[in-house]
Amino acid sequence: MLVRPRRLRRTAAIRAMVRETRLSPSMLVYPVFIREGRGVVEDIDSMPGQKRYSPDEFPRALERLSKVGVDNVLLFGLPEHKDEEGSGAHAENGVVQQALREGKKRFPRILFITDVCLCEYTSHGHCGVLKDGAVDNDPTVGILAQTAVSQALAGADVVAPSDMMDGRVGAIRAALDKAGLTDTAILSYAVKYASAFYGPFREAAGSTPAFGDRKGYQMDPHNAREALRETALDVAEGADMVMVKPGLPYLDVLRVVKEASPVPVGAYCVSGEYSMIKAAAMKGWLDEERVVCEAALCLARAGADILITYHAPELAGWIRDGKV
Ligand code: PBG
Repeated sequence: MLVRPRRLRRTAAIRAMVRETRLSPSMLVYPVFIREGRGVVEDIDSMPGQKRYSPDEFPRALERLSKVGVDNVLLFGLPEHKDEEGSGAHAENGVVQQALREGKKRFPRILFITDVCLCEYTSHGHCGVLKDGAVDNDPTVGILAQTAVSQALAGADVVAPSDMMDGRVGAIRAALDKAGLTDTAILSYAVKYASAFYGPFREAAGSTPAFGDRKGYQMDPHNAREALRETALDVAEGADMVMVKPGLPYLDVLRVVKEASPVPVGAYCVSGEYSMIKAAAMKGWLDEERVVCEAALCLARAGADILITYHAPELAGWIRDGKV
């Protein structure tokens, strides 16, 4: 008698029970742009639906987020004045520092993560200080460490260096410890590619380099094994969590990093990924809810423990409603 190999009958109840991947709102991180000023909430043209908030308006954004169950935010600062050294990044009264104080006071249960980088703060838009027209690694690392300490003192629970300088995780850890900030965690952008998918962000943050590109310090999209080396170095230097960025086009990288990493792994679904979906949805060409749910699911299946996404508020609701 022929024995027909059987597989589970795929009723909705069985599908729900045997899922290999499950999402939770607690894994979501929502990026927020903070700009100088008072009473400002402004649209970001390149990212429909996303806004820039002045520090005093930030608690209102947090209120909306906590209502939908998003408890983790990632802050980016847009200072009024930029200079060669990006000194606004570590100013005691810098935009991010102000927002942290406002937010922390009102929402102590929210997890505050800060992007540690200089590109939003430098007049030339590069992620570090320059020497002979190129980013000078070592002096930059010192400024980044100072920035991380300043953000942690203002209330950051986690600092997330995204500059891609060598040795910055170790320097940040040492500086935090020296300042007594031993509980501040480091989420390293360990695996960050030089990607065209950051296009809408650079408009949002006004951080397009005035000349050249970031290929000298960000990773080459041709390489996947290099991601393992970057991860190993950052973990050795004290990273508590690492991330891969961008998200969807780099699922293979995310998978290998997950397999090799002893620490939790995040995926950053970047501005270009958001705006592509948004634009197609606005045209009626894609079903936004289904596409966002599927993209999030694929990132989690590939290995993401943490998901950083501009769709976090909507996604949290869709997860809760069992849409994914
Ligand atoms: C800062 C930084 C960037 C992003 C996160 N941190 C921009 C860049 O490297 O050019 C991109 C995020 C996004 O596109 O959503 N260095």
